[in-house]
Amino acid sequence: MQEQLERIKAAAVQALKESEALQALEDVRIKYLGKKGELTAVLRGMGALSAEERPKIGQLANNVRASIEDLIEAKKKALMEKEQAARLAGERLDVTVPGTRRALASRHPLKQLEREVCDIFIGMGFSIAEGPDIESEYYNFEALNLPPDHPARDTQDTFYITENVLLRTQTSSVQIHVMENQKPPFKMVSPGRVYRSDALDATHSPVFHQMEGLVVDKGITMGDLKGTLEAFLKKLYGEDVRVRFRPHHFPFTEPSAEVDISCFVCGGEGCRICKGEGWIEILGAGMVHPKVLRGCGIDPEIYSGFAFGVGLERIAMRRYGIDDIRLFLENDVRFLKQF
Ligand code: DAH
Repeated sequence: MQEQLERIKAAAVQALKESEALQALEDVRIKYLGKKGELTAVLRGMGALSAEERPKIGQLANNVRASIEDLIEAKKKALMEKEQAARLAGERLDVTVPGTRRALASRHPLKQLEREVCDIFIGMGFSIAEGPDIESEYYNFEALNLPPDHPARDTQDTFYITENVLLRTQTSSVQIHVMENQKPPFKMVSPGRVYRSDALDATHSPVFHQMEGLVVDKGITMGDLKGTLEAFLKKLYGEDVRVRFRPHHFPFTEPSAEVDISCFVCGGEGCRICKGEGWIEILGAGMVHPKVLRGCGIDPEIYSGFAFGVGLERIAMRRYGIDDIRLFLENDVRFLKQF
């Protein structure tokens, strides 16, 4: 029996040596020490031994069991350490390798300009107003004194949703909302999208951006209009810029003017950008028509005001030398990355 135990031990030691996985260790344990294992079988046969032999063999069997168990534990620990070492080696990372740089997005050039323009007006005490892109004819035309036969009202020029609901053609509609909803004085600008039924080409887009301005208070004069716009344009284009007002017609202002600046490229000499004129048209403006004030419940005998509207694409195109308005809409990162 002693021999048998020695053999079992030797076999188990050999099997453990060859075990390279935790499952193999467990198999060895079951094979030798399990309920139906070889060592257990030997112990079962101990009843046949003499009274002297029994404790000796019992002692030996216990030693064999203990040494096999110890070996299993030791091997288990070694295997686990090996496994962890392998995992750590696999997961090792070189913190000195340069990272993958993520491209930072930037604001769309039109939005950048919109912010810049709004900031200038906020600096002069204006607030920002918003109005809906979808308007009724009343806000877009009628309340702004655009007569029913005005060409802007034609379906050729305007996107109608129903007979009298449309996509606004100008941010001037926001003037009416502001005057209806608040009590004067007002001093606001309102940037936003406008829509016109134009085919898309290098200089026309069915959707573009404007910014409207409105100031109404007691005693507002054309001098306030000129001073405000001059201050704005000098902030935007630099102190050296000269500003010129040309008489014009808009239905919702009287008198009305178009406002030009001296060309910021040639300074007024005449160049390609200003088409040899020396002047560049920037915006439309005027004194709010008394009919418009009255329509909004404001007494033109007490209050007066001025308004202006500026196209943001145009400013951006001239400033950056962009010759195709479609670039603003195409989301081409090669274009957008430049701002
Ligand atoms: N709404 C005009 C347009 O789309 C621009 C404009 C001109 C707005 C004169 C004004 C203004 O407020 O006073 O062409």
